[in-house]
Amino acid sequence: MTPDLFAEPTPAAPAERAAALRAQLHHHAHLYYTLDAPEIPDAEYDRLFRELQALEAAHPQLITPDSPTQRVGGTVLKELTPVRHAVPMLSIRTETDTEASGAVAFDTRVRRELGLAEGEPPVEYVAELKFDGLAMSLRYEHGVLVRAATRGDGETGEDVTHNVRTIGQIPLRLPEGVPDVLEVRGEVYMRRDDFEALNERQRAKIAAGAKGEKTFVNPRNAAAGAVRQLDSAIAAQRPLSFFVYGWGEVVGDADAPQTQHGWLMRLKAWGFPVAAQTAVCVGADELVAFHRRIGEQRDQLPYDIDGVVYKVNSLALQQRLGFVTREPRWAVAHKYPAQEQLTTVVAIDVQVGRTGKLTPVAKLAPVFVGGVTVTNATLHNELEARRKDVRVGDTVIVRRAGDVIPEVVSVLVDKRVGNPEPFTMPAHCPVCGSAAVREEGEADHRCTGGLFCAAQRKQAILHYAQRRAVDIEGLGDKLVEQLVDSGLIKTLPDLYKLGFTALAALERMAEKSAQNVLDALDKSKHTTLPRFLFGLGIRHVGEATAKDLAKHFGSLDRIMEASVDALLQVNDVGPVVAQSIRTFFEQPHNREVVEQLRAAGVQWPEGEGAQNTPQPLLGKTFVLTGTFPTLKREDAKAMLEAAGAKVAGSVSKKTDYVVAGADAGSKLDKAQELGVAVIDEATMLALLDATKDTA
Ligand code: IVH
Repeated sequence: MTPDLFAEPTPAAPAERAAALRAQLHHHAHLYYTLDAPEIPDAEYDRLFRELQALEAAHPQLITPDSPTQRVGGTVLKELTPVRHAVPMLSIRTETDTEASGAVAFDTRVRRELGLAEGEPPVEYVAELKFDGLAMSLRYEHGVLVRAATRGDGETGEDVTHNVRTIGQIPLRLPEGVPDVLEVRGEVYMRRDDFEALNERQRAKIAAGAKGEKTFVNPRNAAAGAVRQLDSAIAAQRPLSFFVYGWGEVVGDADAPQTQHGWLMRLKAWGFPVAAQTAVCVGADELVAFHRRIGEQRDQLPYDIDGVVYKVNSLALQQRLGFVTREPRWAVAHKYPAQEQLTTVVAIDVQVGRTGKLTPVAKLAPVFVGGVTVTNATLHNELEARRKDVRVGDTVIVRRAGDVIPEVVSVLVDKRVGNPEPFTMPAHCPVCGSAAVREEGEADHRCTGGLFCAAQRKQAILHYAQRRAVDIEGLGDKLVEQLVDSGLIKTLPDLYKLGFTALAALERMAEKSAQNVLDALDKSKHTTLPRFLFGLGIRHVGEATAKDLAKHFGSLDRIMEASVDALLQVNDVGPVVAQSIRTFFEQPHNREVVEQLRAAGVQWPEGEGAQNTPQPLLGKTFVLTGTFPTLKREDAKAMLEAAGAKVAGSVSKKTDYVVAGADAGSKLDKAQELGVAVIDEATMLALLDATKDTA
């Protein structure tokens, strides 16, 4: 809207329009930022926003502190002003025991302090997440945000209102009917994806030569830095989020809830984000279950937590429990093991994978992180290592979340001593000396040595021997290392030439273990086509693809001869996979390996599952349950599927046969209840055999 400089508008009109725009923008910002459920397109929001900006520019007296236009930043302060908290911001006791028993210890303490005897009913708690950000007190007067302050020492914090206004999830104005004075307390934090994106932008600025810019160590640091900026325009560029967990001074509350949970639900209704995981838990058992459940979900959360917090739900009981020094007796923080730690890079090694991929790995001074001691962290590839600029001697942050491979998050460049060389990928494979190349458009370098390379050979053997492939029990890292290094094994078929004397002569190899390995090798000769195919380690052929190939072609010879076009007919096989299979079988040495393995006695039921072979069990549904005397469950499944049967997970009226082994459970009961035929493994094999004859 263009302000008309000549005609003075009727004063009521712009004021009314501004108020209407503010209300609309508040409503849509709440839908967008807090509920993640916008009702209008971004462009429409922007249009309303610009209209309000124009109106305020023309009539500055219309600007209110809660106007959404005040979120974009622009206030530059000389220093942050101290703020005395009307109600102190307390800290919280930490339960040091990271095991589940920490929850039990807290419950026991609470019960004792409340004088509850053993038989008396359990205490009700609220279990919350312990967000890893910084505590914030938001003061609303007559529903308008007037001040945001950090915790500081608990008595006095700093006024950071200008920056906090830029946080989309924090309401600038509350609905009608809120208390005259309301202090809301919670955590300002940064999501991990926002943090990664911010650091990416920082790295780009540094690379472009910007002075005084740096990357951030972790989301908490980035959030704290943003909140304490003097210039709110900078804070506005650092995406922050908020969760509410409590309250401070409250004046004029007609209808105060009597529980922590009641408060949280009311604050949620007023527009504050409450974590969805928040739960009412009755007694210690439910707290323990909560701690375990959140522990499992932790790695999938989009933000960092360092634990959970338990609070007695009833405010009356909270009051009875009171405080010790500055910590309430009614709450405790129960931590999880830290997922990030500082350590130093001792060396950067280059490891060679099964397909020849060269991976730079940072060798670290041992550090306890994410519940285990970590000494290696992957740097993925040369580009990643250089992007993060990891160098020998550097102090780095390592992160290990869940079962994920430990990673170097970032380098503390300030702590770098001297000027170590940036990492470069060697031009030759560190194991076999063959040329290392990086193909056009790929991030990874590869050793070109193929099975000439001992590292690739070791990995290829381990891959073939793994449980999901032909399954050679007892053939692990150490043994493969010895077998390859001693020259006993050069190619896969050499495995089956191993003799007792040679094996037993290896270091740390007792006679009994040597015999076990030989037995396992013998056993592995009876396998299935999918397992064998997967075990060959063809690039891009995982377990699922191997199964699809076996099912489609039915025999190894047909797969070995298949053209790229024929391969493309297979479920989920695209051009890259098809080409990779073709290339593999075009190599004479690979064909030779296959022939020698077959000659050594490796075999599988040929013709199984071929689409061009008859499928006598087509249309029959089987359910497998219990442990079978000779077959592995997945092999039985593969055999049935090869014959055209469907193998389902649960028993229904549509089930034709339930194959029951030892310790069959509820599925067997269900079959009996529904009158479904129950057979054993031998009968199933007989059935397969019989159908083969008729085929
Ligand atoms: S309650 C009287 N609840 O942990 C209890 N604190 O010392 C006051 N924190 O830095 C705190 N998540 O910012 C509470 N769900 C949660 C929390 C939480 C994170 C932080 C808080 C403070 C520290 C407590």
